[in-house]
Amino acid sequence: MDKLNENQNTGIDLSKLFPEESEIPNEYNFTETIEQKEYLINGKIESWDTSFQDVYSPVCIKSNEGLNPKRLGKYPLLTEKESLEALDAAVKCYDHGRGVWPTMTVKDRITCMELFVSRIKVKRSEVVKILMWEIGKNLEDSEKEFDRTIEYINDTIEEVKKLDRESSRFQIHQGIIAQIRRGPLGVVLCMGPFNYPLNETFCTLIPALIMGNTVIIKPPKKGVLLYRPLLAAFRDCFPNGVVNVVYGEGAITSGTLMKSGKIDVLAFIGSSAVANELKKLHPYPHRLRSVLGLESKNPAIILPDADLELTVKECLLGSLSFNGQRCTALKMIFVHSKIKDEFIKLFSAAVDQIKYGMPWEKGILNTPLPDILKVQYMEELVNDAVSKGAKVINKNGAHLQSTFFFPTIVFPVNDSMRIYHEEQFGPVIPILEYDNIETPINYMVNSPYGQQASIFGTNSQTIAKLIDPLINQVCRININSQCQRSPDNYPFCGRKNSAEGTLSVFDALRVFSIRTLVAAKKNELNEKILSSIIHDRQSNFLRTDYIF
Ligand code: G3H
Repeated sequence: MDKLNENQNTGIDLSKLFPEESEIPNEYNFTETIEQKEYLINGKIESWDTSFQDVYSPVCIKSNEGLNPKRLGKYPLLTEKESLEALDAAVKCYDHGRGVWPTMTVKDRITCMELFVSRIKVKRSEVVKILMWEIGKNLEDSEKEFDRTIEYINDTIEEVKKLDRESSRFQIHQGIIAQIRRGPLGVVLCMGPFNYPLNETFCTLIPALIMGNTVIIKPPKKGVLLYRPLLAAFRDCFPNGVVNVVYGEGAITSGTLMKSGKIDVLAFIGSSAVANELKKLHPYPHRLRSVLGLESKNPAIILPDADLELTVKECLLGSLSFNGQRCTALKMIFVHSKIKDEFIKLFSAAVDQIKYGMPWEKGILNTPLPDILKVQYMEELVNDAVSKGAKVINKNGAHLQSTFFFPTIVFPVNDSMRIYHEEQFGPVIPILEYDNIETPINYMVNSPYGQQASIFGTNSQTIAKLIDPLINQVCRININSQCQRSPDNYPFCGRKNSAEGTLSVFDALRVFSIRTLVAAKKNELNEKILSSIIHDRQSNFLRTDYIF
């Protein structure tokens, strides 16, 4: 590491970072491994006894043999056969839109969902502990992820009631009476990411379900075990075949499902490379709707009049929350040359002072990364930048120990470096100095990504002038605030390689459904028929009642 960080000898000592087993507080320890055999198909929890994937924590344990990632358990590696069984169950349950679930009243679907929330709420501590150990997310953020998910389900229930109320009226245009509602699309393959394995999966799963689709969940490679405590709730709260959960290699499980041509919606949060592979496997791409959350390289643009205290605070959170492993993280900082020295001084001091450690420790910002490969990737990016003229700016930067990589600021960055182009998705913070505002603007115009940006400054006119050219490059501009997805009521989307479709409590209901209508020429016969259907409540679709 010497060549990466000239301050190597003055930096921190990480040799005592990882605990011995006996040093882990009892209440937080993962005392019993999860040897998972279960998977869920057609309302039945099946048992698997063939091949398994071992699961290791980002947290290493110190022993006489050195530092080793703690083993947390295993999960089934299902084959094409079980994937097709899950597909069969979802297809049969949807039954061309004639199944129990897609034709059920919205009110009854809400009842199932309410039961589901009450069942999973009691699993909070179990799920939070698994999240913390399996992906290394700190305790507070793991709790936040769980609570935010429950809130998302409750908000979705309220939003679906609102949508239903708004659709409960007839329209008359040009002599045609119509009632317009939103109907389901079919079978949804739901795949979330490792960094928000619960929340981001549920942000597509819940709206997909409540709109009447049937679903196959394929949990991410990491962040898998937390689904096990939820399997029984999926089984008990929804009709058989509505929710199916398969585990295993993506190429085998998801690949088989996509090749079948029977997936109607691909809900995937991950990389555009994998999304492309999956989409290409579908034999009828025109019939596939995709809802994708992909990579990004969100920039911070720091103007010469920025409030530095606030800017440093937001850039720190923006680039380092959950080790920078958020699609919304700030992944490139442009700072004006006039305040570059002051910003770098304050920012690197703040980065060096972050609290780091084990996920259960109070107030921790940075924790170990998922595996050694991720640490190696961070090193590669820093090494590459240093070999092309950048320096590691902060004293503790580029220090590492096993799966832990201390947040590292590299400066000055230019377009010859990998970090300028690649989504680091980790604790490396590239800084680029600019004189002309066209520099960050051009970066965004030429970027393959288009999710969000943050502007830091105090002059409203300057900021206004920047908003106009930038708002068509990304989907959200944050003023003096880090980039983020929340609150979940706001649209979350992206341009170019960053996303397809829009997610929010409101938008997701629309993305997982299609507008459908019943129409009739306005005449005596049709008016009589429509009135009878409404009056005698003969249809689940054509009705005017309200869900309060
Ligand atoms: O990884 C992407 C997440 O959706 C980010 O969500 O900005 O609320 O942390 P967040």
